[in-house]
Amino acid sequence: REAVLIDTDPGQDDAVALLLAFASRDRLDLRAITTVAGNVPVAQTTANALRIRDLAGAEAAAVPVHAGTEGPLLFPLETAEFVCGPDGLAGADLPPPAREASPGHAVEAIIALCRAAPADGITLCPLGPLTNLALAVRLAPDILPKVKRIVLMGGALGLGNMTPAAEFNVHVDPHAAAIVFGCGRPIVMMGLGVTLQAIASHEQVARIGALGTATGRAIHGMLTRPRPGGLGTAGHPMHDPCVIAFLLWPELFAGRDCFVEIETGAGSLRGRTTIDWNGRLKRETNAHVVATVEATTLFERMIERLATLP
Ligand code: BDR
Ligand code: CA
Repeated sequence: REAVLIDTDPGQDDAVALLLAFASRDRLDLRAITTVAGNVPVAQTTANALRIRDLAGAEAAAVPVHAGTEGPLLFPLETAEFVCGPDGLAGADLPPPAREASPGHAVEAIIALCRAAPADGITLCPLGPLTNLALAVRLAPDILPKVKRIVLMGGALGLGNMTPAAEFNVHVDPHAAAIVFGCGRPIVMMGLGVTLQAIASHEQVARIGALGTATGRAIHGMLTRPRPGGLGTAGHPMHDPCVIAFLLWPELFAGRDCFVEIETGAGSLRGRTTIDWNGRLKRETNAHVVATVEATTLFERMIERLATLP
């Protein structure tokens, strides 16, 4: 079992990623969930992580949720209610959390968990802006050798979704992204190039709804609500679940080791991930950039696992 920490800003697709992780205890040892401001402010992403943990049943309750950073390192926070609704989980129709978050700031929790791990002992999975992770790396660089790899959702091999140049997570906190991409540990970048291919078919979404479980109903509600236009696809792309799916089924994905540079300026290129796909810059590579996924198989396998949750 791979020891894993998920840093997240739920967000519907974050919610599905968390549920897939909860449904994969045989493969993943989920040590903690840390939250960050992103899709909605951090008080709400924390409440949402707790609501999703409640949904995942009694066994999930053992996974601590720690609230994290309230905004990016330098830029003011920009949120995405226009995509995910006022509470970040529109369509899920979930009750308020049964319990509060665990004591201790997310950044402290990341540092403590990494320090307690053996060398190459923990995989970090950021699904939102990279603020918590960047702070952890800056506060405690001694944690880096403990990090086996960072498998993150962020960036774009192609057009952005927040701006023409940038994907949301990197756009929101490009300085944090620059720190993480420069940290020297193995990075797998699951950007829009691949995640926009990860659309469940209508038939697959209907099957999730027909599971007859609370989880199935919540996911079905989130994936059938109207989605704003102009975001690159007609269906609901499962950006963040691709990260968890990559841990479970790497054979469904293909990509290339590349040098990736983050644009940190405040102009129209803010948050752009410049990906040297063809190695023109002759720079040392710093990320495995994933470009394709076998989406049909991914959703078949995902539905099988989600069916095991309450
Ligand atoms: C990313 O932005 C967020 O809105 C989603 O949760 C995902 O992490 C996609 O650009
Ligand atoms: Ca997210």
